[in-house]
Amino acid sequence: MSILMLIGGFKYSPKDRQSPTSSSPFAPNSSPTARVTLRRATIRSAPTTECTGGEELGFEENTRPATPPELTQPSSQPSHDSNRTAHTNSFKHSPPIVHGIQLVSPYDLPDRLRQIFPYELFNAVQSQCYEPIYKSNNNVVISAPTGCGKTILLELAICKLIEGHKSGEFKIVYQAPTKSLCSERTRDWGRKFSHLNLTCAELTGDTNQHEMIKVRDASIIITTPEKWDSITRKWKDHQKLLQLVKLFLIDEVHVLKDARGATLEAVVSRMKSSDSNVRFVALSATVPNSEDIAVWLGKNCTQKDVPAHLHRFGEEFRPVKLKKHVYGFDGQANDFVFEKVLDGKLPGLIQKHSQKKPIMVFCLTRKACEKTAALLADWWSRQRDIDRTWPAPTQRTRVGKKELQEVMLCGVSFHHAGLDQQDRLAVETSYLKGDTNVICCTSTLAVGVNLPCHLVVLKGTVGYQGGDGPAELSDIEVMQMLGRAGRPQFDDSAVAIIMTRKSNIDRYQKMVSGQDVLESTLHLNLIEHLNSEVGLGSIKTLHEAKNWLMGTFLSVRMRLNPDYYKLEGIPLERDTDHRLELVCERDLKLLQDHQLVSRNDSFMCTEYGNAMSRYMVTFDTMKSILSLPEQATTEDIVSKALPKPL
Ligand SMILES: Nc1ncnc2c1ncn2[C@@H]1O[C@H](COP(=O)(O)OP(=O)(O)OP(=O)(O)O)[C@@H](O)[C@H]1O
Ligand SMILES: [Mg+2]
Repeated sequence: MSILMLIGGFKYSPKDRQSPTSSSPFAPNSSPTARVTLRRATIRSAPTTECTGGEELGFEENTRPATPPELTQPSSQPSHDSNRTAHTNSFKHSPPIVHGIQLVSPYDLPDRLRQIFPYELFNAVQSQCYEPIYKSNNNVVISAPTGCGKTILLELAICKLIEGHKSGEFKIVYQAPTKSLCSERTRDWGRKFSHLNLTCAELTGDTNQHEMIKVRDASIIITTPEKWDSITRKWKDHQKLLQLVKLFLIDEVHVLKDARGATLEAVVSRMKSSDSNVRFVALSATVPNSEDIAVWLGKNCTQKDVPAHLHRFGEEFRPVKLKKHVYGFDGQANDFVFEKVLDGKLPGLIQKHSQKKPIMVFCLTRKACEKTAALLADWWSRQRDIDRTWPAPTQRTRVGKKELQEVMLCGVSFHHAGLDQQDRLAVETSYLKGDTNVICCTSTLAVGVNLPCHLVVLKGTVGYQGGDGPAELSDIEVMQMLGRAGRPQFDDSAVAIIMTRKSNIDRYQKMVSGQDVLESTLHLNLIEHLNSEVGLGSIKTLHEAKNWLMGTFLSVRMRLNPDYYKLEGIPLERDTDHRLELVCERDLKLLQDHQLVSRNDSFMCTEYGNAMSRYMVTFDTMKSILSLPEQATTEDIVSKALPKPL
């Protein structure tokens, strides 16, 4: 008898459920990963270490799984499998109640949709959202901690759309902030929805030729805000395609507050103001003001003034208990010297928190990965056998790179984009098999590969991506790395450590505890976005410009926190509506003054304005280009017109 059948007096009575076909892509627990993890869990558990220490700020989240562990396991454990051969969609008694929420079974769905969900029951978060997402067409905002199973909510929204549009005449857009998240989604949904003839197209690359064909042919378009922005900026000629978008899924909507959030805000506001009837479903990590996102999106296209349906789930819904620590160290000005400080502290922290379970150490460069791996291997090899922080590898892994081979003898490895495919795979497999206990990696492993990790360490918080020189990691980068700890299939508790400068403690503490209020960043690039909307024809008059601006997240937040938004030349003492009007007038005038926008009866982009929009050039760069003399030399162009060093 399955453990599922006897939970707290709940009796589950299978009758005639069908078994998923053997070709089903869903068999998570039959994977080597899950088997190895189970093996690891049984042989390597050790008492929990409580954390103290002057430099550290630790706080524990949740101590109770959202769903009993038995329920959170995907249903391919042997006992589950046998039950699936004969299940029914009728419960003899009520299904279990978790956190006061009665769990819903995927077997309530029609057969062809049910197989998308490889679980006996939806968890508490999913069950609570089942009605608003699957039984209604209104916009929905869900804020819940990482690892809560939010992806299923998007899949339910897709199911709802399919049910309502049997003709298949629709397009779904999924937006995630990173290419790797998009790739992961494309792989997963490509398989999951193929039996329904829904094709997925990933649009994240740089080539243009194929894009429109892909958009035209696919039912589900998986893309980043930047890419969708650049495509829809050129969509004047493809209005029909745009009209086909019926569902807009926004994953990780909390990136609104990152520097790139303005693009997300602009594309969503563009979709909102298009005439088509689009449903929005937005997922967010824990943020204190998720209701502002609901206000921004509105209930539906006819009731934009009523907030979207909002559900917030606290940390108690996190299926795996995650203890987070922010360790601040006295920061030397020089990053190189600071890295040495972190090197000195890392082994001690690992010893304190790892419980002999798998560890991932995120390093900020490839070189740092290799050096850190060498450091840990050396430290481990000098420990006495009985004191060792992780067990010795039981077998040797064959890898090509010499430095990798050396550290792997000590149960340590590194993983980054500079490794060849074979070595990367060897590292992943060896870690999954339990022969390697530590991976020092770059953010390439932050998404995608589902590796069982108990302890995640962020060794430093200064990143070198984007070409703008060193910069503190963004929220999304940090949350993705921390999210590697304690994936539900692998662990029931986990630890995440951020090592940073003392001066950053407050920032990261707020970030990981979800206290950071979500603010808009649209005001920082407002003029570029106004120009694109004029180019697209969605803004033709000052009135339309103001309306567009009133429909942004910026306007929602400016009303609530006016002091935060300092707009050059616009007095703070004015009320928000007035300030928004002034900024609108000012920017449209600037665009006209620089011949980017012309105005006869209505606003229109000039050739320059269209080029600025199509090629995503900033206003400042455009101004410099336009100020070049006609016979500009190469030096003039390079020194004045090109954007400052990338
Ligand atoms: N009802 C369920 N029962 C058991 N496992 C589930 C259930 N729903 C989701 N999971 C598993 O939980 C894990 C986390 O799911 P998912 O990635 O959707 O979470 P998330 O909330 O989007 O997290 P993140 O913030 O990291 O993106 C996945 O491995 C998934 O297979
Ligand atoms: Mg997710």
